[in-house]
Amino acid sequence: MGKTSIILDVDTGVDDAFAVLFAALHPDINLLGITCVDGNTNIDQVVANTLKVLDAAGAPEIPVARGAVKPLLGKSQYAEYVHGADGMGDLGIAPSARKVDSRSAVELLRDLIEQSKDPVTIVPLAPLTNIALFLRAFPETAKKVHRIVLMGGSASAGNATAAAEFNIWHDPEAAAIVFQSGVPITMYGLDVFMRPGINREQATQMQNSSNPAAQFGGSLALAFMERLGVSPVTLGDYGAVASVIRPDLFTTEMFDVVVDTSAGPARGQTLVDRRDAFLKELEPLDLEDSAKVRVTLDLDVNGVEQLWLTTINP
Ligand code: RIB
Ligand code: CA
Repeated sequence: MGKTSIILDVDTGVDDAFAVLFAALHPDINLLGITCVDGNTNIDQVVANTLKVLDAAGAPEIPVARGAVKPLLGKSQYAEYVHGADGMGDLGIAPSARKVDSRSAVELLRDLIEQSKDPVTIVPLAPLTNIALFLRAFPETAKKVHRIVLMGGSASAGNATAAAEFNIWHDPEAAAIVFQSGVPITMYGLDVFMRPGINREQATQMQNSSNPAAQFGGSLALAFMERLGVSPVTLGDYGAVASVIRPDLFTTEMFDVVVDTSAGPARGQTLVDRRDAFLKELEPLDLEDSAKVRVTLDLDVNGVEQLWLTTINP
């Protein structure tokens, strides 16, 4: 299998950092660029954090662009209680000397997709504000997107609220635009998101290695454990990137899905219709607003964990 060309959209974030490390280091991934969006923390912090992760990975000059400063509607809602004040574990890592790209996120998405000779997979790991704006601003380029594999949503319970997962809840209108866009979508949601993890022993071993990327990944994981008071901690967003190049490790199924954009208690829910066909006949989901989405339901946890560990610390 050759390299897969991907563009990450991130709100770095500890687990976004796990994903960026992996995408920058795995030989089967051609990381074309990274777009940043308001989410776990503010946009400037997301950009600064993302550049630092590329330093830790020893990555080449991969373009990183600044995107939406807040959701399409409503206000930003940060997750510093999870990711720390700086959004990346408050490790006090020195600022990167790398420069953010002069283009906005939507312009970088357009240029990378137009210039790529290979099919491009967009891998959003954050609220979908940038992706929605891109789809609306450049519809002709949007038609060239191979697929979107996104971390977001849930076919079961939420995390930001009882019903909604954080990335969708942060900008439900953007999520609805993306889900209804017609671009093939794979949803890597909370049904699998928490399961691949790293424990204290593994993180300490990485931190003590001679490999800078492993030291960074291990330190980040240990800081995550201190903050959350648990071990293991989830590798989170990384799993969505793994599912792009190793679909054999994941179980998916197609469902009709609708994003709740109401103002009610289910705002931001991805309602996944798992009913039997004959019941769906009785009262189908409102097909105006729903979409056929490939939902990730299960995974080979050990295989996914080992893939990250052996890539970051070969
Ligand atoms: O709900 C989990 C998602 O919210 C992850 O992408 C995490 O980084 C946060 O953005
Ligand atoms: Ca994220």
